[in-house]
Amino acid sequence: MNIKACIFDLDGVIVDTAKYHFIAWREIALQLGFEFTEQHNERLKGVSRMRSLDILLEVGGISLNATTKEVLAEQKNLNYLTYVLQITPNEILPGAKEFLLEIKKLGIKTALGSASKNAVTILNRLEITNLFDAIVDGTMVTKAKPDPEIFLKGAEMVNVNPANCIVFEDAEAGIEAAIAAGMKCVGVGSPEFLWNANWIIPDFKTLSLAKLYENI
Ligand code: BG6
Ligand code: MG
Repeated sequence: MNIKACIFDLDGVIVDTAKYHFIAWREIALQLGFEFTEQHNERLKGVSRMRSLDILLEVGGISLNATTKEVLAEQKNLNYLTYVLQITPNEILPGAKEFLLEIKKLGIKTALGSASKNAVTILNRLEITNLFDAIVDGTMVTKAKPDPEIFLKGAEMVNVNPANCIVFEDAEAGIEAAIAAGMKCVGVGSPEFLWNANWIIPDFKTLSLAKLYENI
C-alpha cells in the first residue's frame, strides 16, 4: 500500500483523556446514587457523549427523559473541561508528536478524526494543532463511529483516497469505522480490545514510517 495520509483518533491515541472522562462521569453516577467503575468506563471509549450517558444510565439501571439527559451531559462536560483546561504539552503520549513530525516531513498528510466536541480545545492545550492538515471532530459529523463518516471526511479534506489512508485508533468502534471507510487501521494499546486492527502497537515510542510499511 502507498501511504498518503495518516488519520489519528485523539482520546487514547494522542493523549490519555479517559481518566478525566472517568472522573467526570463517575461524579454524575454518584449524584444519581450508584457506583461507576473503571471497568464500566472501558465501554465509553470512542463512544459519543450522549451514547456514553446512555451506557452509564444502563449501568445504574436508570431511565431519564431527554431534557434531563441533556442537562446531565452538559454538567459532565463542564466538569470534564475543568481537567481538560489544565492539560499541558507534557501529556502528549510518548512518541506521538515525533511520529507526526516525521511523517509530515516525508510529505504524508495528517488528519485528526475524533468523536470529541472538545478536540480543538485539547489540541490547542497540547500545542499541536498546527501538526494537522485537517481536523474532523464531533461537531462536524452527524454519524458517530463505528460509522465511517469521520474518517471519510478527513480523507476528503486532505484530498487522499481512503485506500491510501491509515487510521490510528484505540477503540473498537473506531477500528470498525476505519474498516468501513476502506482504510487500514493500526490499533494503539492493549491487543485485548484491538484484535480487529491490521496491526497493533503498544504506543508510538518506537514507531517510524519504515516500520509502519513493514507491518501494514
Ligand atoms: C471520544 C472518547 O474520543 O470522544 C469518548 O473516546 C468521548 O470517551 C467522546 O465520549 C466524546 O467526547 P466529548 O469531549 O465530545 O464529550
Ligand atoms: Mg479513542
